[in-house]
This record gives sequence, C-alpha cells and structure tokens, in this order.
Amino acid sequence: MKIAVVGTGYVGLVTGTCFAETGNDVTCVDIDKGKVEKLSNGQITIYEPGLEKLFLRNVKEERLRFTTSLEDGIKDAEIIFLALPTPPGEDGSADLKYILGVADHLGKILKDYKVIVDKSTVPVGTAEKVHAAVSKNYKGEFDVVSNPEFLREGVAVDDFMKPDRVVIGASSERARKLMGDLYAPFVRSGNPVIYMDVRSAELTKYAANSFLATKISFMNEVAQLCERLGADVDMVRRGIGSDDRIGKRFLFPGIGYGGSCFPKDVQALVKSSNEVDYDFRILNAVMDVNERQKLHLLPKIRKYFKDDLKGKKFAIWGLAFKPNTDDIREAPALYMIDELLKAGATVSVFDPEAMANVKGVVGDKIQYADNQYDCLEGADALIIATEWNEFRTPNFLKIVTALKNKVIFDGRNLFEGDAVKELGFYYESVGRATAIPTNGTYKN
Ligand code: UDX
Repeated sequence: MKIAVVGTGYVGLVTGTCFAETGNDVTCVDIDKGKVEKLSNGQITIYEPGLEKLFLRNVKEERLRFTTSLEDGIKDAEIIFLALPTPPGEDGSADLKYILGVADHLGKILKDYKVIVDKSTVPVGTAEKVHAAVSKNYKGEFDVVSNPEFLREGVAVDDFMKPDRVVIGASSERARKLMGDLYAPFVRSGNPVIYMDVRSAELTKYAANSFLATKISFMNEVAQLCERLGADVDMVRRGIGSDDRIGKRFLFPGIGYGGSCFPKDVQALVKSSNEVDYDFRILNAVMDVNERQKLHLLPKIRKYFKDDLKGKKFAIWGLAFKPNTDDIREAPALYMIDELLKAGATVSVFDPEAMANVKGVVGDKIQYADNQYDCLEGADALIIATEWNEFRTPNFLKIVTALKNKVIFDGRNLFEGDAVKELGFYYESVGRATAIPTNGTYKN
C-alpha cells in the first residue's frame, strides 16, 4: 500500500518505519528541512531501541522516503497519517493548530479519495474538525479515521509490530476495509482489530492512559499508607496483583509517572470533561497524587540530614522519566534536582542516555558524571530516580568507596532492604520500611 505519514516525531517515525518494514511504500513529510535531510541520509533523529536497524534497512531499500513537500508526499498515498504534536495549551487542553493547519492544507491539494488518519492523541471531536477543515476547499470524497497509538517509549517497535489491539474509529466501510488491510500483518497472532465509531476511538486513547495513570497513583497512595502502617508495598502489590481483575502490571510505586503521555493526557481528559460540565473527580486526585509523589523522597532526605541540605552533595542515578529512553519530559529527577539546588545542595548526575537532554535544560548548575560510579565521588547520599537495568545490581564496593556516607534514597525500589542493610547502608525506598544498619560497617 502507499502511505504518507505527516510529522516525523516519535510517533510518526515509528509508524512510518514499521509500515515500511511490512512492505508498504511510505513517504514521511515534515516541515523541518534539517530533519528531512538527516533522515534522508540515513541519520535517525530519535533514540528508540530496535528502530534504527529497521529504519536503515527501509531507507536503503527505498520503501521509506522523506520530503518537506506535503503535496509530493501525499500525491500517491491511499492513506495519510497525521502524527503531529498536540502540545497542551495554557489551560491544559490539547492545541490542535498543527493538525488543523495540515488538514486545511490537505483540503487545497487533494485530488482523489484518501483516508486521513488521526494518529496523534486528540480530544473527542477532533476528527470532525479535521473533516470540516479539509471540506472547506475539497469537495471530493474522503474519510477521517481515528487510529490511536499505544506505543510505549523504549519498546515502541515491539508494541507496533505486535499490538495488544488495534483501535480503528471509522464511519465508512471503505475506510474500515483499507485500514483493516493495512493492519492485517500486525494482528496475525490473533490480537483484535477493534472497529468502532470515531468518537469512541478518540476517547479510548485518553481512557486507557488515564486508567494506567490512575493505577500508578493508586499504588503510590497505598505505598504512602504502607510506610505509615508498617506494611510492605511489595507484598501488598503481589497480594493484589495476582487477582486477574487487577493484574500484575503497572502496580509499581515510585516517585511518580512522567513522560510525554500520562501527564498530558490526564490533564487533557480533565479539561475535556470540564467542557461538557463534568467533574472527573478521580483524575483530579490522580494528578494531585502524582505531583506530591515526585517529591516523595525529599522529606526523607531532609529528615536524615536534619533539615540542613546546604553544602551537601547528592548523586542522582537516572534522569530519564523511565529506563530505555532519553526522554526527560516531566521526569521526576528534574523536580528533585530543582528542590535540592533550591535547598543549597550540589548535585551530580548520571544517566545512560538522557544526559545531553538534561544539560540542555539545566545547564552547568549540576555536574555530569562519565559513569554511575564517578557520579558518587564525595557525595553525601545516592538518590535513584530511574530504574535502568545497570543500576539494579551495582558494584556495592565501588559505591561504598566513592560515597561519603553509606546512604541511599531509592525512588524506584531497586534493592532489597535487608540486603543493603547487611552491607551497611542506610536505605530508604517507597512504601517499605527504612533499612537501618545495625553496626554501620560495610561487609564485602
Ligand atoms: C504510555 C503508555 O503506556 C502508552 O500505551 C501510550 O501510548 C503512551 O504513554 P510511556 O509514556 O512511553 O507510554 O511509558 P510507560 O512505560 O507507560 O510509563 C509511564 C510512566 O509510568 C513512567 O514514568 C513510569 O515510570 C511510570 N510507571 C509505570 C510507574 O510509576 N509504575 C508502574 O507500575 C508503571
């Protein structure tokens, strides 16, 4: 099939590459000349495990092309995907200017039937707005379809190639058939393509992300309670997660969810609810809990250092909002850095992928270490903000040698309290008892 993907950001690039990989002819369109040039020359512009190999292969085999011209990009396409940014406006609602701008442009250049697909996360009613914008200038036949993505950063290629489900919101049989044919190779395993009306498809994306954010915030509150009641959140998590109705996944407490999706989507759904005079109370609480949770470790740190952080040095492991990405949007680590600097502390950081991005935002106010152990040199405590695999079984001898005090504040519950206590560490985590060493000596 011939496909156009408008927007070569994260979603667009993964979508275009994966469709090319299954034998389609894909042209990606972006207004950013520099980006199009790089991509055309085989230089990938985002970090996503497994993507580069597919990208290079498909560029080489000329199934994946890039252009700045919308007209050239869509000319032969049967399906046009819109994978454009929908940044939150000042009031939290999704800003549709990019999508509607392209829709308007499409109206001026369309010549025959096309399926226009909203791939970006957009509020209910957006497809109708896109339809109206195209119709202003184009009087021929076309369909607007909602086909939300459920990609997780870090495993996006796998999520795309083997989706749990594909949601297609379409109002014509013609569009349903084309979309069904396009996705057939991805659902051979038997996972469903779920057809529905356009509005339901649009809401499905927000409801899915908001539900997952709710699950996390709920567990973060259970963790708070565990700390106060002397229970262990790991046990409670396992105890409830084995009930199929609850499920084991997304029950891990921590220092809050971040990223480009959950915070934005929860906020946008609250906003959409308000617009139709509905107060989505649970989601307001979900946002509140998450804000509080991002700073969960701070009172513990203050208490340990008797409220005097001035001149103390903290080492932070992990900056990305989650492992296997360089994305730092809404990352809890950034909030921690901010608070620690405000309190007069110094901070050194290490992250396997996200250092350059943090440098771009935070600049020289903190130290950037070459590796996870250099980061600890002379620090009063180690703070863990992201659960990268390489932090899970570290060389504790190196940690002890480098740190000034054997103190760890772990926002992702990477270690067993008893084990690190045995090694002489004072160890605070989330929803579990503080581990306090009895003799304070490190045993190798
Ligand atoms: C999410 C959705 O999973 C995906 O379907 C959607 O398309 C985009 O948003 P992503 O933002 O890439 O994907 O990350 P995800 O792996 O879902 O994690 C989101 C956040 O929740 C992270 O900050 C993570 O640390 C946090 N999280 C996740 C927890 O705190 N606890 C958990 O148990 C799971």
